[in-house]
Amino acid sequence: MNIKGKTALVTGASRGIGRAIALEFARHGIERILLVARNLQHLEQVAAEVKALGAEAVTIPLDLTKLPEVSVAIAKAWRDYGPVHILVNCAGVAHQESFLRSHLPHVKSEIDTNLMGMYAITRPIAKRMVARDEGTIVNVSSLMGKVAAPTMATYSATKFAILGFTQALRGELANHQVQVMALLPSLTDTDMVQELQHFRWMVKMTPQQVAEALMQGLQRDAPEIGVGWQGRLTLLVNQLAPQLLEQVVRLAAPVSASSPIFRRWLSRIQFDFLRRQNSWRESRSYP
Ligand SMILES: NC(=O)c1ccc[n+]([C@@H]2O[C@H](COP(=O)([O-])OP(=O)(O)OC[C@H]3O[C@@H](n4cnc5c(N)ncnc54)[C@H](OP(=O)(O)O)[C@@H]3O)[C@@H](O)[C@H]2O)c1
Repeated sequence: MNIKGKTALVTGASRGIGRAIALEFARHGIERILLVARNLQHLEQVAAEVKALGAEAVTIPLDLTKLPEVSVAIAKAWRDYGPVHILVNCAGVAHQESFLRSHLPHVKSEIDTNLMGMYAITRPIAKRMVARDEGTIVNVSSLMGKVAAPTMATYSATKFAILGFTQALRGELANHQVQVMALLPSLTDTDMVQELQHFRWMVKMTPQQVAEALMQGLQRDAPEIGVGWQGRLTLLVNQLAPQLLEQVVRLAAPVSASSPIFRRWLSRIQFDFLRRQNSWRESRSYP
């Protein structure tokens, strides 16, 4: 699809992947972007960057977990700025913890933001898109929406649910010329992952790379958009050999989630590595 002259609404636009998508849309000639998140100050900074790239930017400070406020804000935005052609549902939260020690407020915030928040904003916009027989909805899931990962059980559950939601809407809205697709980023360098214990062997993408993958996916009208070679390879192996991939994900999981035998084996390797590194350093300092 060509985004020139269109209006997009991007949630989670105050930082991270949502911000990068808004800027990438502006670079590709979109006319207007409605920026949604809670933090108005951050939204205004992004709006200034969007305007510098030649697009119009409108900030809509909104907490997506406050369902009635979302409907009112969308009705007002549609009246004031006209139809939204592209909705990008990017806002999300993630908590990493062992399931057995998980905290209910964390689980609730993931469900409220990642699922109920997406539902709250998609419904009023989808209804209006259907009335015009035109629109594109992009739901940001994750690689963890295909391959669930230890220590991220409830986050993974919301991301799997987003793919189900996306697939069902795609079928329901197809007759109304409304496209529904999913974006599946892998580990990306944003605020979200700063506090997380990382999975071994995962190479971090930049938000810009994720935004570029979305632009390419939009041009191909792809129903599911993978990001980067590592993400695409994981999706392929998941299709061909899901049990093998499950074993690999277990090994890659943060040490706290893996088995005691594996933990001992890993600490031994790390210990050997550090010892060799130290003796190499010593041999260089004292020739
Ligand atoms: N980073 C990764 O490795 C990764 C990988 C795969 C998928 N993803 C997905 O990509 C999306 C963006 O993640 P990110 O990495 O860019 O995270 P981030 O940097 O933490 O940004 C999250 C965005 O969501 C907004 N947000 C959170 N709660 C909200 C609420 N209740 N109402 C409105 N906005 C809310 C935040 O804005 P305010 O705080 O201003 O409200 C912020 O703009 C998420 O759906 C995430 O699950 C991320």
